[in-house]
Amino acid sequence: MSGLTYRDYLRIDSLLSIQDTRTPETADTAVILAEHFFIVAHQASELWLKQIIADLSAAAESLAPKKPGDDGELDAGEPELGVEYLSRANDVLLVLHEQLITLEKLPLRLFAEFRPYLDTASGAESAQFKVLSNLLGDDERPGELYEAFCAATAAAGTSVAEVCRDGVRSGVHHRVAELLLDIGNAYWRWKVAHLGLMSRSLGQQLGTAGSTGAMYLAGRLTMPFGELRKLRGEVHAQFAAEHSERSAADHTARPTAGHSEQTAA
Ligand code: HEM
Repeated sequence: MSGLTYRDYLRIDSLLSIQDTRTPETADTAVILAEHFFIVAHQASELWLKQIIADLSAAAESLAPKKPGDDGELDAGEPELGVEYLSRANDVLLVLHEQLITLEKLPLRLFAEFRPYLDTASGAESAQFKVLSNLLGDDERPGELYEAFCAATAAAGTSVAEVCRDGVRSGVHHRVAELLLDIGNAYWRWKVAHLGLMSRSLGQQLGTAGSTGAMYLAGRLTMPFGELRKLRGEVHAQFAAEHSERSAADHTARPTAGHSEQTAA
C-alpha cells in the first residue's frame, strides 16, 4: 500500500491551477508573467490572512474568561495559550508585509498593460481584511481581541490600566499587551506599505473600486488598540504626579539650615 504523497496531502494540483491570468494568450509573455506574479501575491496574502484570522480568533477565545462555574465566578481563560497564538499571528503579519513589498518589483509598463483586465476587482473587496480589521479594532473602536483582553484582566482581578503600569510584574498579561501592540504596529506597517506601493504604481489614478486611491487609503490609516495606547500614555501622567508629590513631601520633610544646626548642637 502506498503512503500519502506530498502532492495529494497539500492538493498541489488544485493549488497551482487557480492562477488564472486574464491577459490574452497572444500578449507578450512578460505581461502574462507580471499578471501571474500579481495574482500569486494576492492569493498568497489571502492564504496568510486566513491563518492570521484563525490565530487571532483562537487567541481571543483563549483569553476570554470561561463560563461561570457553580459559584458564579468566571474562570480565567488561558492567557499563555493566547500568547502562543498572538506570537504566531504577529510573525505571519510580518510575512504579509514582506510579501506586499515584492510587488514593488512589478514593472509599471507591464502593470499598465494588464490592469484593464482587473475591471472593477479590488483589494477593497477583501472579506478577510474586513474580518481582520474587526478583530483588531482601531483608534476609536475596540476590536474583539482587545475586548477579550479586557475581560481576561478583569477575571484575573486586575485591569489593563494596572497591567500597563506594572509592566513585567503583570506577567502573562503584560506579554499579551506587548504582543497586541506588536500586532497593531505590524498591521499599521502593512497599511502604510500598501499606500506606498499603490502610490508608486498608480500615482493619482483612481482605484479599480473607483476610490480616489492614495487619498482614500491615507484616510483609512488607523492604529489598532487605541485604548491600550491611551492607557499606556497615562502611565507617564501617573508617574509625573507621583514624582511631584514625592518632591513636595521631601521638600516639607527637609529640615531648614537653622533647625539642623540646632539639632547638631
Ligand atoms: C500593485 C499592487 C496594488 C495596488 C496598485 C493596489 C491598489 C489599491 C487601491 C487603489 C485601493 C483602494 C480601493 C480601490 O479604489 O481600488 C486598494 C485597496 C485595498 N487593497 Fe490594494 N493594491 C495592491 C496590492 C494589494 C495586495 C497585494 C493586497 C493584499 C491582499 C491588497 C489589499 C487591499 C485592501 C485590503 C484594500 C482595502 C484597504 C482599506 O480599505 O483600508 N492590495 N488597493
